[in-house]
Amino acid sequence: MKTYLVTGGCGFIGSNFIYYMFRKYRDIRIVNVDCLTYAGNLENLSKFNHDDRYIFVKADICDSNAIENIFKKYDIDYVIHFAAESHVDRSISGPVIFTQTNVLGTAIMLNAARKAWKGKSDKKYLQVSTDEVYGALTNDPKTFFTEKTPLDPHSPYSSSKAGADLLVKAYIDTYNFPANITRCSNNYGPFQYPEKLIPKIFDCCCNLKEIPVYGDGLQIRDWLYVDDHCKAIDMVLHNAKAGEIYNIGGHNEKTNMEIVKSIIDYVRSEINPKCSEELITHVTDRLGHDRRYAIDPKKIEKDLGWRPETKFEDGIIKTLEWYKNNQQWLENLSKRK
Ligand SMILES: NC(=O)c1ccc[n+]([C@@H]2O[C@H](COP(=O)([O-])OP(=O)(O)OC[C@H]3O[C@@H](n4cnc5c(N)ncnc54)[C@H](O)[C@@H]3O)[C@@H](O)[C@H]2O)c1
Repeated sequence: MKTYLVTGGCGFIGSNFIYYMFRKYRDIRIVNVDCLTYAGNLENLSKFNHDDRYIFVKADICDSNAIENIFKKYDIDYVIHFAAESHVDRSISGPVIFTQTNVLGTAIMLNAARKAWKGKSDKKYLQVSTDEVYGALTNDPKTFFTEKTPLDPHSPYSSSKAGADLLVKAYIDTYNFPANITRCSNNYGPFQYPEKLIPKIFDCCCNLKEIPVYGDGLQIRDWLYVDDHCKAIDMVLHNAKAGEIYNIGGHNEKTNMEIVKSIIDYVRSEINPKCSEELITHVTDRLGHDRRYAIDPKKIEKDLGWRPETKFEDGIIKTLEWYKNNQQWLENLSKRK
């Protein structure tokens, strides 16, 4: 039985990944390490509380003793490193914790894995990174980020993720460490903390609160349904050559305003007929707000046969239905700071 160490499994993508893996594989064990910051929610995974294949360890990835002990206690075959501070706005108002968690935390994960895996084969470490490390594109629809695009991060968040990526690269180049890096676009789906665009706007729409839209709202993001992302991670982990980097994108470029309008339409027809575009309030744009991100996923399509399966029109309805059916979850998390 293979053992997967998932960091940050109580966050948005980590929770979805753990569901995905248990749906796909019967005979695996998952150790979920999370220190439960405001973004971590243990209850996301309560379904597995009595499942022998699931182990939760409350620990900080910056605590090297705790992380090394996990490697000693469990014979870890794979690491999927999600744990991070992940919100750009928070990185602008308080950047230091981003360097600590995202850079130092990654250094500690790499060091512990390398020590534990010395002389062993068939191990793999996967660093979950972001397209934001590449900086921003213009609105020219023919331009995309490829794996060869130079790193040019703009926010404290993306800089800390780029720093972590460079550490992983250094481990690959120096120690022949068996790692991959994946860089994905904006994910959407169940369990996303309500500071992020889709659950936040959904909450405003349901409760007829002002809908804050940064600047003109014409910033473009490439939206990836979270299960498509989980499938890509699974494929890279098991099928990719160590040392390779893969971009993962959904072929779904949308402006923030298009996303906002699609949520308003859904809530007006399904939940609250009073919801309308009149709730939209343009607020001062985020400092250094990147204009457009768009991924060219040709490499992962060609090497591993991965393709995004969820059309945005279907994925957004599935997502909004999930929030509609889990409004208590949303309300509980919205109260956190
Ligand atoms: N959400 C996206 O659209 C997106 C896009 C690109 C890349 N990513 C990357 O994917 C990963 C997961 O993102 P997410 O949206 O699920 O994040 P999230 O903020 O929802 O979850 C982060 C999780 O990490 C945990 N965590 C934070 N600091 C920790 C620490 N010091 N020790 C242990 N656990 C800690 C939190 O408790 C939380 O459970 C991140 O590395 C992020 O940079 C996310």
